[in-house]
Amino acid sequence: MDYRASVAQGPALSQVNADALVLVLTPEQSVTGDPALDSLIKDAVSAGDLTLKAGRTLYVHRPNGAKVTRVLLVVSGDDSAKSFKAAVLKGVAALKDLGVAHMAVAGALGLNLSCEHAHSLVLAVAEGTYVFRQTKPSAPKPVALKKVTVLCGPDELSAAKSALVRARGVAEGISLARELGNLPGNYCTPTHLANEARQIGKNFKHVKVEVLDRPALEKLKMGSFLSVTNGSAQPPKFIILRYQGASAVQAPVVLVGKGITFDTGGISLKPGAGMDEMKYDMGGAASVLGTFRAIAELQPKVNVVGLIPTCENMPSGTATKPGDVVTSMSGQTIEILNTDAEGRLILCDALPYAERFKPAVVVDIATLTGACVVALGHQHSGLFSSDDDLAQALLRAGQQAQDTAWRMPMDEEYGESLKSNFADLANVGGRDGGAITAAVFLSKFAKAYRWAHLDIAGSAWKSGAAKGGTGRPVGLLTQFILGQAEAGQDALKPQVAKAVGKTKAAPARKAAARRVA
Ligand code: BES
Ligand code: MN
Ligand code: ZN
Repeated sequence: MDYRASVAQGPALSQVNADALVLVLTPEQSVTGDPALDSLIKDAVSAGDLTLKAGRTLYVHRPNGAKVTRVLLVVSGDDSAKSFKAAVLKGVAALKDLGVAHMAVAGALGLNLSCEHAHSLVLAVAEGTYVFRQTKPSAPKPVALKKVTVLCGPDELSAAKSALVRARGVAEGISLARELGNLPGNYCTPTHLANEARQIGKNFKHVKVEVLDRPALEKLKMGSFLSVTNGSAQPPKFIILRYQGASAVQAPVVLVGKGITFDTGGISLKPGAGMDEMKYDMGGAASVLGTFRAIAELQPKVNVVGLIPTCENMPSGTATKPGDVVTSMSGQTIEILNTDAEGRLILCDALPYAERFKPAVVVDIATLTGACVVALGHQHSGLFSSDDDLAQALLRAGQQAQDTAWRMPMDEEYGESLKSNFADLANVGGRDGGAITAAVFLSKFAKAYRWAHLDIAGSAWKSGAAKGGTGRPVGLLTQFILGQAEAGQDALKPQVAKAVGKTKAAPARKAAARRVA
């Protein structure tokens, strides 16, 4: 898709050179300064054909006095970028089946299209035109739309242009994550994910990719990760992506993504209803790959490492059994009371591996618990961290990207339920607070650095008639990384005043240092 910004205001709007003009109004802002459009709007409202309520649309073919042949009026709830995104989605849906190759988008007077609106526009167009076709030859033809122009004032032009470039990179990453999520489990295997990663490495010179196979994982003593693959015929992979955008000595942001390409539950088999959706259990991995796709294109001045442990969780005669005890790379032993709590078992061997990169921060992303869906629904991803500054930075990035997270508690006490008589840790606590005990389990393996965990079980895909991957949280992660690059090397170092006092993460780091010693 070709995204442009150009200056057009007032009477120039109806004369715009495009196949369609999408005009976004709000209940408060329904005047454009263009006589042709304003009489059209006035007429439509008084005739009762257009109500100035969020979500309403009116299509007009060859409006009087206009050069543009198609005008679509869309009413947005307010002038926020978020509502604007929903309005543009409506617009794209309405124009999808027409022969519109070039769509121009403008706002009513007073609805100034800022860079956030330009960002929203790109995300909405990408979302609205996406069609999964890899395994569906009968899928509808790709839309005719090739070019989208945002019409703004002269003062907004340069900001809009750079916002479009940035948003386009993010949208590419989101689309990749959606596509990988939607790809069925028999296509999207660990080997497939490894090949996708290698492809990013091939296409972008700042990205290097390495893939570890079973023998290397055995040598690293990743006994917990390997125990999850025991029942599967698909070989496990451990994918390492490295993006270098800053000096090699600068500490990287490390992203760790859960890559279960299908989660049957293993011997603790899941119920059959809806089990197909467990193909999305590699959503964390997909978000890491999507984020790499985005930053490889946008080239922020920051270093980023991506780690993806990936395998299937299957039942078989060789599968791990409830009660089995495994030894993780960290040396801690784990009693596997439930083989369906497998995400934490693969992540807990990736987290210690992250230490070798001397990370500035580590963020893991996982479709980890059904309990997180119960707690937060599908609106927000769950965010867990005992590092306030890191948590705030991630929450802010989510807000900016319209890909929000909600912070959850993570007190040590929640870990009580993870005690085992036969190992250092059990892999499940009780049913209560399940998203939190999962996070606390992970925290036992992430004490050597600043760390946060995103549970995306409720946000990575949609169920029902609109079943499909969302590409979340690529928007949040990319925004976070771009923010780190802009803030420079010291972005996430605790501020001086706090460094003198105690930070919450400091005792944990010391404890980890003691343990290593
Ligand atoms: N991949 C699932 C989590 C999940 C379930 C995400 C449903 C989205 C929707 C994870 O591996 C899992 O099975 N978790 C268990 C943990 C339990 C056994 C402690 C769960 O949530 O039921
Ligand atoms: Mn599971
Ligand atoms: Zn799972």
